[in-house]
Amino acid sequence: NLCNGHEAALERVQGITNCELQFMNADILDSNTLDKVFNNFKPEAVIHFAGLKAVSESVADPLKYYEVNVGGSISLLKTMSKAKCNNIVFSSSATVYGDPQYLPYDEEHSTNPVNPYGRTKLMIENIINDWITTDSKRRGTILRYFNPVGAHESGQIGEEPIGTPNNLMPYIAQVADGRREYLNIFGNDYDTADGTGARDYIHVVDLALAHIGALNQNKLNKFEILNVGAGKSTTVLELLKKFEETSGVTINFKYLPRRDGDLAAFWADSSKAFEKIDWQPERNIKKICEDTWCWHKLNPTGYGPK
Ligand code: UFG
Repeated sequence: NLCNGHEAALERVQGITNCELQFMNADILDSNTLDKVFNNFKPEAVIHFAGLKAVSESVADPLKYYEVNVGGSISLLKTMSKAKCNNIVFSSSATVYGDPQYLPYDEEHSTNPVNPYGRTKLMIENIINDWITTDSKRRGTILRYFNPVGAHESGQIGEEPIGTPNNLMPYIAQVADGRREYLNIFGNDYDTADGTGARDYIHVVDLALAHIGALNQNKLNKFEILNVGAGKSTTVLELLKKFEETSGVTINFKYLPRRDGDLAAFWADSSKAFEKIDWQPERNIKKICEDTWCWHKLNPTGYGPK
C-alpha cells in the first residue's frame, strides 16, 4: 500500500528487468480487494512481504503491529484459501530467536522474540504452519532474514528510509553523503572483536534470490524454515571502515551507550538453505558498500517526491 514505499521504485524495476509489472495499490487488510486481485491474476504462489518492520514502533504501538502483520496475514491466507492458491513464501526475521543460546543460530534454535515485532513474525510462522496442515496441496516456506543491506548494482533501486534511519547501513551512507554529521555508535563495550555490536549483513540481491529458490520446491518439505544470512558477523566499526574505503569519505562517529534491546552479536548458520534450495550468498561486505554508495550517489534525494 506504499505506506513505506515508492511507486517510482516499481517503474525502475520495469526498466531494469524489461518486464511489465502490474501494480495494485491496496491494503492487505482489505479482503474484498484481495479477493478481486486473486480472481484477476490467479497466482500460483505468494511471496508475502507486506508488513511493518520497525522494532521501536512495535514497542510504542503493539496493536498496530498485531493488526497489520498478524491480521493482514490471516486476511491474505483466507483469500488464498478461497482462490485455491496453495504456496506461500513468508518474510520472517532472525529476531524470532531472541537471546542466543549458542551461535550461529540454526533453525533448531529456540525461539523467544523480545519485542512485539518479533512476536508477530513468530505468530505468523505458526499460523502458516497450521494453515498448510489443513490441505495436502498447501506449502509454506519461512525465510528468516538476518540484516538486509545494499542496493541493486545498477544504482536504480535502494533503501530510502523515511525520517531518521533506525538501521546502521542507511545511517552510515547518509553521513558519507553529507546529510548527517556523524554516526552514533551504540555501545563499545560488547564482548566482540572491537567492542561494537556485530551482525550478519546480507546483500539484498542475495536475499531476493533466496525467494526464487524457495519457489522451486523440489527439495523442500511441505513446511520449511530457512535462515537467510551470510554466515559471518561484521562489527559496526568494521562496516564503517569498509564504507570509508569504498567511498573515500571519512565517516565521523561518536560512542553512545548501548541501545535498549540490542544483542552483542549474532549470525546465521545458513547451511540448510544451501542444502534445500541451492542458495548461498555471493556478494560480500565490499560489494554491499559499493552498491549502497552507488545508489546514494546516483539518487541524492532518493526517489524524489511521491
Ligand atoms: N547501530 C549503531 N548506530 C546506529 C544504528 C545501529 O551503532 O545508528 C548498531 C546497533 O547497535 C547494532 C548494529 O548497528 O549493533 C545493527 O543495527 P541495525 O539497527 O541496523 O539492525 P538490528 O540488528 O538492530 O535489527 C535489524 C532489523 C530488525 C531485524 C533484525 C534481524 O532492524 O528488524 O535486523 O537481524 F529483526
